[in-house]
Amino acid sequence: MTDIQALLLSRIRDVPDHPEPGVMFKDITPLLADPAAFGALTEALAELTVRHGATKIVGLEARGFILGAPVAVRAGVGFVPVRKAGKLPGATLRQAYDLEYGSAEIEVHAEDLSAGDRVMVVDDVLATGGTAEASLRLIRRAGAEVVGVSVLMELGFLGGRARLAPALAGAPLEALLRM
Ligand code: PRP
Ligand code: MG
Repeated sequence: MTDIQALLLSRIRDVPDHPEPGVMFKDITPLLADPAAFGALTEALAELTVRHGATKIVGLEARGFILGAPVAVRAGVGFVPVRKAGKLPGATLRQAYDLEYGSAEIEVHAEDLSAGDRVMVVDDVLATGGTAEASLRLIRRAGAEVVGVSVLMELGFLGGRARLAPALAGAPLEALLRM
């Protein structure tokens, strides 16, 4: 483990039985409150963004906004929000995806992505991979290219990497921490 990984890991708080019994919630608010850790995270994600030649960051509501926006500024690329359905005012593309119980929908402004855009998706956690997978569908439907998905942490036991693989179509899944 690198010094940066150790720093990031030390600022993630395990909260048992949240939001429901049996779930160990990974709380990133201590990391966000620590400028050294948040700065190191932003720097690491920006380095991946530049290395993979992205021209836009897509951040996934809500925690992907917090992480992705400073990364976009640091990397010198645009930021595009993928929001939970019903929030964006303009013409959108909408994508449904399955949750453990039920389903959800996310949207992007159609005009924010186009052919020629090279997109890095940023989020805090890859769990089942359902949210990230739906975002990749939206990006491709908008005509843009996916250059990767970058997350702070991957919860390996939930199998998100395997679920995401077909939608990634060879693009990298970058996880700064795996647990
Ligand atoms: C959480 C997390 C990821 C997603 C991962 O978001 O921030 O976006 O779940 O889960 P998955 O890989 O199984 O799709 P959530 O919508 O719960 O909350 P948020 O609005 O606080 O980001
Ligand atoms: Mg989220």
